[in-house]
Amino acid sequence: MSAPESVHGMWSSRLMFILAASGSAVGLGNIWRFPYVAGENGGGAFVIVYLACIFLIGIPILSSEILLGREGRQSPIHTMKTLTKTSGANGAWQFIGWMGALAGFVILSYYSVVAGWAMAYVFEMGSGVFVNADGATASQVFADFTGSPGKVVLWHSIFMLLTMFIVARGITEGLERTVKYLMPALFALLLVLVGYAMNSGHFMEGVAFLFSFDFDKLTGAGVLMAMGQAFFTLSLGMGAIMTYGAYMPKDASILSSATSIALIDTSMALLSGLVIFPLVFANGLESSAGPGLMFVTIPIAFGSMSGGTFFGVMFFVLVSFAAITSAISLVEPALAWFVEKLNTSRRNGAIVVCTIAWALGLGSAFSTNIGSELYLLPGMTFFDSMDYVSNNIMLPLGGMLIALFTGWFLSQDIVARQLQISGGKLIMFKVLVRFVAPIGVGLVFINTFI
Ligand code: TRP
Repeated sequence: MSAPESVHGMWSSRLMFILAASGSAVGLGNIWRFPYVAGENGGGAFVIVYLACIFLIGIPILSSEILLGREGRQSPIHTMKTLTKTSGANGAWQFIGWMGALAGFVILSYYSVVAGWAMAYVFEMGSGVFVNADGATASQVFADFTGSPGKVVLWHSIFMLLTMFIVARGITEGLERTVKYLMPALFALLLVLVGYAMNSGHFMEGVAFLFSFDFDKLTGAGVLMAMGQAFFTLSLGMGAIMTYGAYMPKDASILSSATSIALIDTSMALLSGLVIFPLVFANGLESSAGPGLMFVTIPIAFGSMSGGTFFGVMFFVLVSFAAITSAISLVEPALAWFVEKLNTSRRNGAIVVCTIAWALGLGSAFSTNIGSELYLLPGMTFFDSMDYVSNNIMLPLGGMLIALFTGWFLSQDIVARQLQISGGKLIMFKVLVRFVAPIGVGLVFINTFI
């Protein structure tokens, strides 16, 4: 029988769990990464593969992570340790927890750098440089900003400090209250922006780009990217959601929560795409512009609107907050382990985890300036390498192991009890976690690397 509560605290309701997990899921991955990765991979066909991954692989693994977490009620490393014991499985499954904590550091390190760009853009927008700016001007502002090592490191540091401050204070206190207001606000602002993009004259071009599936444009590498994006955007494969599940009230339904989280996350990503691509086409920008896409298109849009400076500032404030509610979940698995293992305070755990991630992040902070010629993986800067290894390898691998463990090695009584399902529904869930999810991930790996 699982422990009724976690020592780290608990979400005050099922709704709070959904908001916190959605806060983790909705972040830079939706607003910044999804549009540019879709753009680089040709649009429509990429989106279809991405959606298939969300529903066939994402939701089952999301549910698995939550159920493992709620059964173990500890950090992923200790949860896996407990569950392997009670299920009589090999202790090596703890690897899921260890790799997850590592992936958390890797992702947080560059996530903080990009979130720092977003925070800096609150002030760039406020300065008025984008009023009536064209594509060339907006691109130049971005290049100038990311080209300055001092500025990038400064904002990276500020973001990491904020994250540290919030996680140190505890999950239920600041965080629950924050997500409750910010998530709806972000959603509303995205809708305003979609309205603006609809009037840009190029809305249907954007829609066609996102939803017309030309499979010739999609490569094997593109399929891997789509799957990696599905993991990234749902915060899957590294134990973040497992940790959040550890704080979930014991009676809340896991499957319907997981579905809500996936739907909220997917709609935010698609809405972002529907804002960004019409603006790309309306302003003669490249859909495959890469990481700078959001930082160039969105300022142009606001720059040409009356009252745009105000809304633009609001937009980047909200993106920054969306990033913070995600960053917190990247810290939590390692932090919870630290607190359990060393019996120390959250404050100490937060300082250690965030300092390590901050130091690692310097490599990414320098990737757009003094380190832009330094390659870690072939042809990839430090920043690109961190992104590639974590999203395309560690997260899918972690997710595959989580599905395999849940489907084949965890005591199946636990699965039925945690999910509160039986009969046909249970069989369907088992088919997904035993076969569909792991084989899906495996095939993509084989296709890409062999
Ligand atoms: N899902 C977040 C986003 O889309 C990023 C994120 C937060 C994440 N926690 C995670 C990604 C855990 C992978 C694993 O911005």
